[in-house]
Amino acid sequence: MIVRSLRMSLRFILPLALVLGLFAYIVVPLLDNITLRWYVRDLDSRAELLAGTLRPSLAQYLPENDAQRIGELFQGATRDERLIAIGFCDNAGHLLYQSLEYPASIGCWSTPSTGGLYKSLAQLPQGQVHISETPVMQDTSQLGRLVLVQDMSFVERRNTDTKRFIFAFLAVLAVLISLMTVFVAHLSWRGWLSAVKDILRGELLSKNNPAVTTDAAPAAAPAPPPEMQPLIGDLRELLQEYHLERQGESGWSSDWTPDKLRALLEADLAGDQVLVVSNREPYIHTKTDAGITVQRPASGLVTAVEAVMRACSGTWIAHGAGSADRETVDKFDHVPVPPDKPSYTLRRVWLTEEEEQGYYYGFANEGMWPLCHIAHVRPVFRSSDWEQYVKVNQRFADAVIAEAKTDNPVVLVQDYHFALLPRMVRAALPKATIITFWHIPWPNSESFGICPWREEILDGLLGSTILGFHTPFHRKNFLETVDRYLETRIEPEASTIFYGGEMTQVEDYPISIAWPEDNPEQPDVAICRAQIRAELGLPFDHLLGIGVDRLDYTKGIVERFQAVERMLEQQPGMVGHFTFVQIAAPSRAALDEYQSFDARVRKMVERINRRFGSGAYLPIVLKAEHHGQDDLQRYFRASEVCMVTSLHDGMNLVAKEFIAARDDEMGVLVLSQFTGAARELHEALIINPYHIEQGADALYRALVMPPVEQRERMKSMRARVKHFNVYRWAGRMLLDAARLRQRDKVMTKIDAHSRIKRRKGL
Ligand code: G6P
Repeated sequence: MIVRSLRMSLRFILPLALVLGLFAYIVVPLLDNITLRWYVRDLDSRAELLAGTLRPSLAQYLPENDAQRIGELFQGATRDERLIAIGFCDNAGHLLYQSLEYPASIGCWSTPSTGGLYKSLAQLPQGQVHISETPVMQDTSQLGRLVLVQDMSFVERRNTDTKRFIFAFLAVLAVLISLMTVFVAHLSWRGWLSAVKDILRGELLSKNNPAVTTDAAPAAAPAPPPEMQPLIGDLRELLQEYHLERQGESGWSSDWTPDKLRALLEADLAGDQVLVVSNREPYIHTKTDAGITVQRPASGLVTAVEAVMRACSGTWIAHGAGSADRETVDKFDHVPVPPDKPSYTLRRVWLTEEEEQGYYYGFANEGMWPLCHIAHVRPVFRSSDWEQYVKVNQRFADAVIAEAKTDNPVVLVQDYHFALLPRMVRAALPKATIITFWHIPWPNSESFGICPWREEILDGLLGSTILGFHTPFHRKNFLETVDRYLETRIEPEASTIFYGGEMTQVEDYPISIAWPEDNPEQPDVAICRAQIRAELGLPFDHLLGIGVDRLDYTKGIVERFQAVERMLEQQPGMVGHFTFVQIAAPSRAALDEYQSFDARVRKMVERINRRFGSGAYLPIVLKAEHHGQDDLQRYFRASEVCMVTSLHDGMNLVAKEFIAARDDEMGVLVLSQFTGAARELHEALIINPYHIEQGADALYRALVMPPVEQRERMKSMRARVKHFNVYRWAGRMLLDAARLRQRDKVMTKIDAHSRIKRRKGL
């Protein structure tokens, strides 16, 4: 940069020096010469004029030898300040008459043969003079010559003044040029800095990040200045190298495992502290008659994040909602988990009933949940709920700040319960890397506009360093929503949002599950089939379908049962030979919407069972209670078909869990096209759950699918889920976080460097 500034300054200084040299050695003498000639010419004509005025009187006085009148004539003429003296010489060259000041050294000049004006310059003690001799005629005879001596010192004076003026002018010009140089250099330095920052923020991200998809139109980014081109290349190369190195080190392309994730944290994040925030806790302590028991909640989010936390330790901050939660924490509200083999810390945050009602049931689940899911349930927004939402977000943000051991932890914020928390944490820990993952869909901008606090929600989320969605579609919806409601600069190609001087990287990271390790204790598929059928009182060859969901209106449970009913209508041969088991974990039961949905589902099951059931045979078995992981595994392994018919779902991990459970490579997945999972699991039977016949046909097709086809489809899906597992989901986010942290370090260095330069006045 110094070399560049010097070069730039020289570009101005060298020509200036050249011009000054030329001026001193060529232009000034030339100017002197020209102006002298101008003045001499001027004096010549004055001399002619004077002589012309004096000649008639002289011609009259000379023949009379009237010395007195000639003297008076001369004295009168020399009153002109420029005319120093006048003399008259006869034809023989004798000075006959002269004014008083006539310099003796001049005398008379030899008469030129031309007889015309004869002139010369002479240097007298009083300065330079201009001398001219002009003939005085009477008729045709020459009486003699009139000698006029004119002062020339004014020429020198004028020349000096002119030179002084030109020098002053050049000096001012030089100062102006210098100032402009500094100004231009400053602008170019700032331009350079901002261009470097742009590369680090935008260009690099779009060019080098394989995670970036380009659904949206590329932004019309300003072209970098030409002098930046070589530097851009270097920087891009450097950071690309860094990126590739990271990929290589972390085995981007190979399978992700907990060990690989741990290695990534140690190598790329230098063992930085990881803090997770979610509403739902991974372990709930409950009081029962048999004492305190520990439960795992039915939440895809918890299943995924728990796997990551086991790998990276750290602290998970969540709402302590269990009846025995307070009894199981220490004085810091900490409890080591998992209870059987602790590997990370759970920090519980306590909420009053009023807070839980407003923040969780009200704003999060009656407002944001239906707002983001297109399930045709109207969102409800109340100011009182919003107030609790703001308050509880701040409570959790305070917990994050209190748990942070350094000023730059990595904070993983989960879901729509904490849209405001990223901004709150950012205010207290500006250097923190905040990764927010939105586990549910993001609606289109128009739908989102229903939310009365839409700007606040967006502002809160943009406190994140990285904001993740399951699919490119939801990511794009978010960018468009921000574009519509906030004043920001969005670079769609790089998927970055610049807001309030900060950048948020918006990405899609499809979530997944932890691929199960080979478990010798896991019962064989055949055993699971036999066990489950025995438990249900069904014969061994009875066909089984399975659905596992929270009892939530977004899951398409009603539409699923309608499809089962239609299939039984269309395929009477299946009646008595097929049963659909629906495991439905009770969820948010305090809300009216969920209570009426529960009632609707139960009524429907009763109706279908009345219609097609007989004796002990029930076409639908509804198990509306919580089931442990082992139980779910047995059901997945025992069933011919798994139905996932969500009306709208961010990802849906049940689909992936079913696939992971089928190590026999059998079983068919019927999957709603409105789940994030449908983007990855193409070998499933993809359906529109609103289309009941389509669902019924797919169910029947699954039940009669030949084993070869089942195996082909299942094998392919298993390979994909195994590869795109939850460690990859977390690994990609953390790799991006590491890259952005590295970028911040480079930018901090550049800023510090530029501050030093400014202080030194460079
Ligand atoms: C969805 C949400 C999670 C939530 C889960 C269970 O998967 O994305 O954040 O934990 O539902 O809901 P609940 O309200 O019981 O936590």
